Amino acid sequence: MSSGFDPMAEYKTKTRKSAQWFETACKHLPGGVTGNVKFYPPYPVYLNKAKGSHVWDLDGNEYIDYMLCFGPLILGHGHPRVIEAIRKQVERDGTHIFGAPHELEAKMAERLKGIFPFAEAVRFTNSGLEATMHSLRVARGFRKKSRIAKFEGAYHGCYDEVLCSLAPPEDAAGPRATPKTVPGSYGTSERTVENVQILPYNDIENSVRLLRTHKDDLAAVIMEPVQRGFVVPDIEFLRVVRETTRELGIPLIFDEVMSGFRMEVFGGACTQYKVEPDLICLGKIIGGGFPSGAFLGRQEIMDMVNPVTRAKDQRVFHGGTFNGHPTVLSAGWATLDVLQEPETYPYLNRVSDKLRDGFDDLFGRLGFDARAIGPGSTFNIVFAKGKIADYRDAAKADARLRQKLDYGMLARGLHFHPDKPFYTCTEHTDKDVARTLTIAEEVLKKMKD
Ligand SMILES: Cc1ncc(COP(=O)(O)O)c(C=O)c1O
Repeated sequence: MSSGFDPMAEYKTKTRKSAQWFETACKHLPGGVTGNVKFYPPYPVYLNKAKGSHVWDLDGNEYIDYMLCFGPLILGHGHPRVIEAIRKQVERDGTHIFGAPHELEAKMAERLKGIFPFAEAVRFTNSGLEATMHSLRVARGFRKKSRIAKFEGAYHGCYDEVLCSLAPPEDAAGPRATPKTVPGSYGTSERTVENVQILPYNDIENSVRLLRTHKDDLAAVIMEPVQRGFVVPDIEFLRVVRETTRELGIPLIFDEVMSGFRMEVFGGACTQYKVEPDLICLGKIIGGGFPSGAFLGRQEIMDMVNPVTRAKDQRVFHGGTFNGHPTVLSAGWATLDVLQEPETYPYLNRVSDKLRDGFDDLFGRLGFDARAIGPGSTFNIVFAKGKIADYRDAAKADARLRQKLDYGMLARGLHFHPDKPFYTCTEHTDKDVARTLTIAEEVLKKMKD
């Protein structure tokens, strides 16, 4: 298969200036990047211009962008409504940040409560990881317990405890029904590992069994209702996790930093699947492409941070210099305005379905065991047969084939992170979709040569 086809060599030929800049960047930034997720071998494409659904790299190559900042740019790059909102905020307020409380915080909180009706109170953060971290601390304070449960393969940000069992090697992960807690990063303390219970995603029987076994020491269960943006839950599984945690009195936290506003409907996976957690974490899209996050939920849990109703020694600490940043909230507000227009989700769904169906059609016609899977405006390409129900299924996909497709497509003008999901935006056009599928077909045919 793929005798003379060398997509990595093509990639290197097209991106010489990125290679040069990588050398420079490496003198100052470990690995030439400022976050490991931004690196891919041999070096990432360095960008210097963007507009709508397109980006340009240092060599002047134009790409259709499906990375979209790992999700937040659901309106594409530099959307006029977002840019206008930022400009207006600074002009109106005379500053980009007061530091002191201001009106837009409570207005945005009210708006989010309207979108997620189970939520009675909101706090803003500066990132998705801060949202999950603070929500876990709030749950710990509420339950007066310290262990947490998370699902194998789930990402909730890059701090020790939630990194556990993010992508455990098969030989360390333990039995599927009773996954072991595996540190997600070198440098994780043993105490952290002891503090985390791992549950098997999409496995009702064993998740319930483990929850019942550990019910007395769990502060919270945190889960991505849709794992890693593309592994969808059996709805019954979500319902049973909800019912069981409610029965056991364990707060259930939905981490919708990724799935929030990227499902088929305006809202989150909780909206689409009609399953209500106690707390929900948001990020990415609610800041319109600026650093942002929020955790919101039931009053009695959220009130753990309340400086009015709780004495200092009974209160959970929540802080952040930039929380509720006016520019960020204005960009997020404008983004939600566009998303709430009646034509937006039908359009996003249509574009995303065309891409998913188009890839699936190519895989079928050209004889690849591969699929484009994921809900709403996110999908991933997996070279695998059968159902992808969890991390272990996804990890069995053929990484070699995916790598060839990735670098072949990058070299021909599609921008995304190799081996990661694709995100769509309101600026992707039918022309973009057609071009994308033409490029994919060319690469897949070469892989067959
Ligand atoms: C589900 C989920 N939770 C949390 C985070 C962390 O968000 P941030 O990168 O803003 O800290 C991410 C980031 O991709 C995410 O996908």
